[in-house]
Amino acid sequence: MIKEMATLLQPPQSNLVEDILALKKKRNAIILAHNYQIPEIQDIADFVGDSLGLSRQAAKTDADVIVFCGVHFMAETASIVCPDKTVLIPDLKAGCSLADTINAEQLREWKRQYPSAVVVSYVNTTAEVKAESDYCCTSTNAVNVVNSIPRDKEILFLPDMFLGAYVQKKTGRKIHLWPGECHVHAKLDPQTVLGLIEKYPDAEFLIHPECGCVTNCMYLVEEGKIPKDGTFILSTEGMTRHAKQSSAKEFVVATETGILHRLKKENPQKKFIPASESAICEYMKMITVEKLYASLRDLKFEVKVPKHIADRARLPIEMMLAIS
Ligand code: 13P
Ligand code: SF4
Repeated sequence: MIKEMATLLQPPQSNLVEDILALKKKRNAIILAHNYQIPEIQDIADFVGDSLGLSRQAAKTDADVIVFCGVHFMAETASIVCPDKTVLIPDLKAGCSLADTINAEQLREWKRQYPSAVVVSYVNTTAEVKAESDYCCTSTNAVNVVNSIPRDKEILFLPDMFLGAYVQKKTGRKIHLWPGECHVHAKLDPQTVLGLIEKYPDAEFLIHPECGCVTNCMYLVEEGKIPKDGTFILSTEGMTRHAKQSSAKEFVVATETGILHRLKKENPQKKFIPASESAICEYMKMITVEKLYASLRDLKFEVKVPKHIADRARLPIEMMLAIS
């Protein structure tokens, strides 16, 4: 009965897209979608991108309302950089297992153990954790952010240990790693990748730095066990850029499968093979066209970071936006 009433309140699916576009105009809204969103959401969005690109779009928009089709920490970041705008997320339960691996009190305790260290937080963290950090970074600019810190400084890197180990190897810095991982990327392990290299010898390998295989892949590249010129460790946006420029015809993609929609759409003549069909982030998939419609109709669910936290989290985020 309740389900029937809810159905009556919504326009038929075929009209939803038109209604969303009309509401978007009425609200002076923009729709930002992460590369892992379902195809229907990506196709309706004004911008599709990675965490860094979407934060930049949020920072420069003149829209009054930002609907963030992604996960909660991304909407929080938009709210921090645009405190005067209404930032909405269509489902408040869209969280992140990686961001959940550390809270502000745990970070304060870690800082007490290393009082002179600089804290670099991956953007996949809550606003409270960002407020306790010196720098924020994304997978696109993590290496450059760490390189911008004076070499004599010790670094606490959180929460992703695979990305942290990758940055440590790339920069040769002394970095303490928080033992956090993303439940989707941790499963993309070295065995999976090695098996695929045998199966697809002509393919290029695009690997997200959150993957459990990243550190091993770097060693295997150095030992000549996997081809150096065919293995690329990239953020989701880096993958889309690389696929366009590369002359390769086949790519194995080690990240959440949502990115395949954009890769195929932008490169119809090329073949993209997911490293694992089951690399699916259930949080990213919580956002549906129906929820997006309801979000714009009812201006729900607003994500607003309290001022005293936002004011402290803004500086590390601004550092992140400034370093590419
Ligand atoms: P990107 O910044 O590469 O889009 O990654 C975000 C993310 O959540 C990866 O799991
Ligand atoms: Fe978080 Fe992993 Fe989902 Fe990315 S894929 S949003 S890191 S749970």
